[in-house]
Amino acid sequence: MIHNETIDNILTRRTIREYTSEQISAEELETLLTCAMWAPSGRNSQPCHVRVVQSKVLLDEINVDFKNLVGWDTPAYTNWDKNPFYQNAPTVMFLFAEGGSFMDGGLMTENITLAAKSMGLGTCIIGSIGTLFDSAQGKVWKERLGVPGDWQFLIAVAVGHGNEDPAPKPRKPEQFQVVKTED
Ligand SMILES: Cc1cc2nc3c(=O)[nH]c(=O)nc-3n(C[C@H](O)[C@H](O)[C@H](O)COP(=O)(O)O)c2cc1C
Repeated sequence: MIHNETIDNILTRRTIREYTSEQISAEELETLLTCAMWAPSGRNSQPCHVRVVQSKVLLDEINVDFKNLVGWDTPAYTNWDKNPFYQNAPTVMFLFAEGGSFMDGGLMTENITLAAKSMGLGTCIIGSIGTLFDSAQGKVWKERLGVPGDWQFLIAVAVGHGNEDPAPKPRKPEQFQVVKTED
Protein backbone atom coordinates (compact mmCIF):
# COMPACT_ATOMS: atom_id res chain seq x y z
CA MET A 1 0.00 0.00 0.00
CA ILE A 2 1.38 3.37 -1.03
CA HIS A 3 1.17 6.28 1.40
CA ASN A 4 1.55 9.92 0.57
CA GLU A 5 -0.07 13.15 1.75
CA THR A 6 -3.08 12.85 -0.56
CA ILE A 7 -3.74 9.17 0.16
CA ASP A 8 -3.35 9.59 3.91
CA ASN A 9 -5.69 12.59 3.77
CA ILE A 10 -8.33 10.36 2.15
CA LEU A 11 -7.76 7.54 4.63
CA THR A 12 -7.91 9.70 7.76
CA ARG A 13 -10.93 11.92 6.94
CA ARG A 14 -13.79 11.32 9.36
CA THR A 15 -17.23 12.84 9.65
CA ILE A 16 -17.05 15.43 12.42
CA ARG A 17 -20.15 16.20 14.48
CA GLU A 18 -18.65 18.41 17.20
CA TYR A 19 -17.14 21.79 16.44
CA THR A 20 -15.63 24.72 18.28
CA SER A 21 -17.33 28.09 17.76
CA GLU A 22 -14.29 29.43 15.87
CA GLN A 23 -15.23 30.48 12.35
CA ILE A 24 -13.12 29.33 9.40
CA SER A 25 -10.98 32.06 7.84
CA ALA A 26 -11.84 33.92 4.64
CA GLU A 27 -8.80 32.31 3.01
CA GLU A 28 -9.93 28.81 4.04
CA LEU A 29 -13.42 29.52 2.66
CA GLU A 30 -11.97 30.84 -0.60
CA THR A 31 -9.81 27.70 -0.89
CA LEU A 32 -12.80 25.42 -0.28
CA LEU A 33 -14.91 27.21 -2.89
CA THR A 34 -12.08 27.10 -5.42
CA CYS A 35 -11.57 23.36 -4.83
CA ALA A 36 -15.35 22.91 -5.19
CA MET A 37 -15.28 24.80 -8.49
CA TRP A 38 -12.49 22.59 -9.83
CA ALA A 39 -14.44 19.37 -9.30
CA PRO A 40 -15.06 17.48 -12.52
CA SER A 41 -18.56 17.44 -14.01
CA GLY A 42 -20.18 15.53 -16.85
CA ARG A 43 -19.32 17.22 -20.17
CA ASN A 44 -17.95 20.05 -18.02
CA SER A 45 -21.56 21.15 -17.59
CA GLN A 46 -20.79 22.60 -14.13
CA PRO A 47 -24.42 22.38 -12.95
CA CYS A 48 -23.71 22.88 -9.24
CA HIS A 49 -24.16 26.10 -7.30
CA VAL A 50 -22.93 26.60 -3.75
CA ARG A 51 -24.48 28.92 -1.17
CA VAL A 52 -22.49 29.44 2.00
CA VAL A 53 -24.22 30.30 5.27
CA GLN A 54 -22.11 31.51 8.19
CA SER A 55 -24.91 32.95 10.32
CA LYS A 56 -25.88 30.88 13.37
CA VAL A 57 -29.17 32.79 13.51
CA LEU A 58 -30.03 31.74 9.95
CA LEU A 59 -28.85 28.14 10.46
CA ASP A 60 -30.96 27.86 13.62
CA GLU A 61 -33.95 29.23 11.71
CA ILE A 62 -33.47 26.55 9.05
CA ASN A 63 -33.07 23.97 11.81
CA VAL A 64 -36.36 24.94 13.49
CA ASP A 65 -38.23 24.65 10.17
CA PHE A 66 -36.54 21.29 9.52
CA LYS A 67 -37.43 19.89 12.95
CA ASN A 68 -40.99 21.20 12.67
CA LEU A 69 -41.26 19.25 9.42
CA VAL A 70 -39.66 15.92 10.42
CA GLY A 71 -40.82 16.00 14.04
CA TRP A 72 -38.88 17.05 17.10
CA ASP A 73 -38.85 13.49 18.47
CA THR A 74 -38.16 11.59 15.25
CA PRO A 75 -35.58 8.97 16.36
CA ALA A 76 -33.08 9.85 13.62
CA TYR A 77 -33.17 13.46 14.70
CA THR A 78 -33.26 13.26 18.50
CA ASN A 79 -31.17 15.52 20.73
CA TRP A 80 -32.18 18.29 18.35
CA ASP A 81 -31.05 21.01 20.71
CA LYS A 82 -27.58 19.46 21.14
CA ASN A 83 -27.57 18.11 17.64
CA PRO A 84 -29.06 20.44 15.05
CA PHE A 85 -28.89 19.28 11.42
CA TYR A 86 -25.72 21.35 10.92
CA GLN A 87 -23.97 19.87 14.00
CA ASN A 88 -23.26 23.39 15.34
CA ALA A 89 -20.61 23.96 12.69
CA PRO A 90 -19.96 27.66 12.02
CA THR A 91 -20.13 27.31 8.21
CA VAL A 92 -22.53 25.33 6.06
CA MET A 93 -22.25 25.01 2.29
CA PHE A 94 -25.52 24.19 0.52
CA LEU A 95 -25.18 22.61 -2.93
CA PHE A 96 -27.89 23.01 -5.56
CA ALA A 97 -28.07 22.15 -9.24
CA GLU A 98 -30.05 23.32 -12.18
CA GLY A 99 -31.76 20.13 -13.32
CA GLY A 100 -30.17 18.16 -10.51
CA SER A 101 -27.00 16.16 -10.90
CA PHE A 102 -26.24 14.16 -7.80
CA MET A 103 -23.09 12.62 -9.31
CA ASP A 104 -21.57 16.04 -10.00
CA GLY A 105 -22.62 17.18 -6.53
CA GLY A 106 -20.99 14.13 -4.96
CA LEU A 107 -17.70 14.81 -6.65
CA MET A 108 -17.81 18.44 -5.56
CA THR A 109 -18.63 17.35 -2.02
CA GLU A 110 -15.61 15.08 -1.85
CA ASN A 111 -13.36 17.89 -3.10
CA ILE A 112 -14.68 20.09 -0.30
CA THR A 113 -14.32 17.49 2.45
CA LEU A 114 -10.80 16.45 1.45
CA ALA A 115 -9.59 20.02 0.95
CA ALA A 116 -11.01 20.89 4.37
CA LYS A 117 -9.30 17.89 5.97
CA SER A 118 -5.98 18.88 4.39
CA MET A 119 -6.30 22.32 6.06
CA GLY A 120 -7.05 20.79 9.47
CA LEU A 121 -10.79 21.49 9.24
CA GLY A 122 -13.61 19.04 9.95
CA THR A 123 -16.69 18.41 7.82
CA CYS A 124 -20.03 16.66 8.01
CA ILE A 125 -21.92 15.88 4.82
CA ILE A 126 -25.63 16.51 5.43
CA GLY A 127 -28.27 14.85 3.32
CA SER A 128 -31.07 14.99 5.89
CA ILE A 129 -31.84 18.67 5.30
CA GLY A 130 -32.96 17.71 1.80
CA THR A 131 -36.31 16.81 3.39
CA LEU A 132 -36.83 20.52 4.09
CA PHE A 133 -35.62 21.76 0.70
CA ASP A 134 -37.83 19.21 -1.09
CA SER A 135 -40.92 20.28 0.89
CA ALA A 136 -43.30 23.16 0.17
CA GLN A 137 -41.35 25.27 2.67
CA GLY A 138 -38.17 24.46 0.73
CA LYS A 139 -39.06 26.95 -1.97
CA VAL A 140 -39.04 29.73 0.61
CA TRP A 141 -35.62 28.66 1.85
CA LYS A 142 -34.22 28.45 -1.67
CA GLU A 143 -35.41 32.02 -2.24
CA ARG A 144 -33.79 33.13 1.02
CA LEU A 145 -30.53 31.52 -0.07
CA GLY A 146 -30.81 33.25 -3.42
CA VAL A 147 -31.48 30.24 -5.66
CA PRO A 148 -34.48 29.66 -7.94
CA GLY A 149 -37.25 27.53 -6.43
CA ASP A 150 -37.00 24.86 -9.13
CA TRP A 151 -33.33 24.10 -8.53
CA GLN A 152 -32.61 20.70 -6.98
CA PHE A 153 -31.06 20.61 -3.52
CA LEU A 154 -28.16 18.13 -3.68
CA ILE A 155 -26.39 18.06 -0.34
CA ALA A 156 -24.99 20.31 2.38
CA VAL A 157 -21.55 20.25 3.96
CA ALA A 158 -20.93 21.58 7.47
CA VAL A 159 -17.40 22.90 7.96
CA GLY A 160 -15.48 24.07 11.00
CA HIS A 161 -12.78 23.34 13.52
CA GLY A 162 -13.43 19.85 14.83
CA ASN A 163 -13.74 19.23 18.54
CA GLU A 164 -13.66 15.43 18.44
CA ASP A 165 -11.48 12.68 17.03
CA PRO A 166 -13.92 9.91 16.11
CA ALA A 167 -12.83 6.33 15.48
CA PRO A 168 -13.00 5.13 11.88
CA LYS A 169 -16.35 3.65 10.83
CA PRO A 170 -16.07 0.01 9.68
CA ARG A 171 -15.72 -0.57 5.94
CA LYS A 172 -16.65 -3.60 3.77
CA PRO A 173 -13.48 -4.79 2.02
CA GLU A 174 -15.31 -7.77 0.45
CA GLN A 175 -17.13 -5.29 -1.79
CA PHE A 176 -13.91 -4.46 -3.60
CA GLN A 177 -12.74 -7.25 -5.87
CA VAL A 178 -10.43 -7.57 -8.82
CA VAL A 179 -12.05 -9.84 -11.39
CA LYS A 180 -9.49 -12.48 -12.39
CA THR A 181 -9.29 -13.69 -15.98
CA GLU A 182 -7.36 -16.57 -17.56
CA ASP A 183 -4.62 -14.48 -19.18
C1 LIG B 1 -24.79 11.37 0.96
C2 LIG B 1 -24.47 11.49 2.43
C3 LIG B 1 -25.41 12.03 3.30
C4 LIG B 1 -25.12 12.16 4.66
N1 LIG B 1 -26.04 12.77 5.48
C5 LIG B 1 -25.74 12.94 6.80
C6 LIG B 1 -26.66 13.64 7.65
O1 LIG B 1 -27.71 14.11 7.21
N2 LIG B 1 -26.30 13.82 8.94
C7 LIG B 1 -25.12 13.34 9.44
O2 LIG B 1 -24.86 13.54 10.63
N3 LIG B 1 -24.23 12.66 8.65
C8 LIG B 1 -24.51 12.46 7.35
N4 LIG B 1 -23.60 11.83 6.52
C9 LIG B 1 -22.33 11.32 7.07
C10 LIG B 1 -22.29 9.77 7.11
O3 LIG B 1 -23.08 9.33 8.18
C11 LIG B 1 -20.82 9.31 7.25
O4 LIG B 1 -20.11 9.72 6.10
C12 LIG B 1 -20.72 7.80 7.40
O5 LIG B 1 -21.28 7.39 8.62
C13 LIG B 1 -19.27 7.30 7.35
O6 LIG B 1 -18.49 7.94 8.34
P1 LIG B 1 -17.15 8.71 7.93
O7 LIG B 1 -17.54 9.86 7.04
O8 LIG B 1 -16.57 9.19 9.23
O9 LIG B 1 -16.26 7.74 7.23
C14 LIG B 1 -23.87 11.71 5.16
C15 LIG B 1 -22.92 11.20 4.27
C16 LIG B 1 -23.20 11.10 2.92
C17 LIG B 1 -22.13 10.58 1.98
